[in-house]
Amino acid sequence: MAFSLMGLFSNEIAIDLGTCNTLVYVKGKGILVREPSMVAIRKSDHKVIAIGTEAREMLGKTHKQIEVIRPMRDGVIDDDEVAEMMIRAFIRKAQKNRMMRPRVIVCVPSGVTKSEKRIIRDAAEHAGAREVYLIAEPMAAALGVGLPVNDPVGSMVIDIGGGTTEIAVIALSGIVTDNSIRIGGDEMDECIVQFMRRNYNLLIGERTAEEIKVRIGSAIKLEQELSIVAKGRDLVAGIPKAIEINSIEIREALHEPIAQVVEAVKVALEKTPPELAADIRDRGIIMTGGGALIKGLDVRIREETMLPVFLADDPLTCVVRGTGKVLDDFETYQKILVNA
Ligand SMILES: Nc1ncnc2c1ncn2[C@@H]1O[C@H](COP(=O)(O)OP(=O)(O)OP(=O)(O)O)[C@@H](O)[C@H]1O
Ligand SMILES: [Mg+2]
Repeated sequence: MAFSLMGLFSNEIAIDLGTCNTLVYVKGKGILVREPSMVAIRKSDHKVIAIGTEAREMLGKTHKQIEVIRPMRDGVIDDDEVAEMMIRAFIRKAQKNRMMRPRVIVCVPSGVTKSEKRIIRDAAEHAGAREVYLIAEPMAAALGVGLPVNDPVGSMVIDIGGGTTEIAVIALSGIVTDNSIRIGGDEMDECIVQFMRRNYNLLIGERTAEEIKVRIGSAIKLEQELSIVAKGRDLVAGIPKAIEINSIEIREALHEPIAQVVEAVKVALEKTPPELAADIRDRGIIMTGGGALIKGLDVRIREETMLPVFLADDPLTCVVRGTGKVLDDFETYQKILVNA
């Protein structure tokens, strides 16, 4: 009885603190927060005006007194103070019983440095965490898609987020090989902005670029090519302008970041020990993260590596679901955590 009551009040939280999106999973409850990693600040007194989805609505539309900040860059904390405010707000949102300070597991990129780890741990502690543990993002992703991370077989995961692409081979509760590049969805958006500027003298915003990428971005020739109307400001005339662009052009715009992702996968494969490479040949590669949803990217990687490639179900939530599994069965999975 006492035990089940404790379970009721157990206060354990998994956070996927992503460059684009932050997700919070509460043990026994599921994913309770899923919002953009953004904070709107009033410049005069540094007061928080809005966080998450509400802050994103303001992106590109603020006046001089308000600034929308993305406290995460390339997978790690870029602005300590704002990140801490954001983490605190999301923990609060996920936590019903505010009396208890939670145990928190936070995902970090596999190549995270000592000082980056300290910043994340401090931010979570200041935000109210009682104990803080860290987990490598590809490990969490692998757990989230249900790969047997504790077994002596090799599994390869490619997590393409907003700020980073992480490729890892996992076996026996550890990361055997990894390759991580600071290229992800944000870089693709930036390439689209540059492309529109160069080819059409059209200045488009970050949100417009992302929408173009999500709607018509692709990594291979599409059976039916798509088009979309891009709205922005004409750089010569200075007036609002709309231009129809197609998926062939956007594929050209995305050529470089996608080639870099493919190259990073090849490098990771070259570094993989032969026994595990054989496992990967049999079992294939699994893709997670929002960037994995680019049309045809799975097919492209399959063609370039000659290996089976699968897109995970619900790729945007794999990492937080995997971290949640660690909370659900701390005994079994504690050994995969990163030293904080
Ligand atoms: N359908 C889609 N097609 C293409 N890209 C998409 C799609 N949906 C989301 N994305 C992109 O996925 C990225 C966000 O993915 P995700 O939430 O996994 O990143 P993150 O975890 O915040 O970043 P990181 O892991 O690098 O810190 C964004 O760049 C977004 O534009
Ligand atoms: Mg991520």
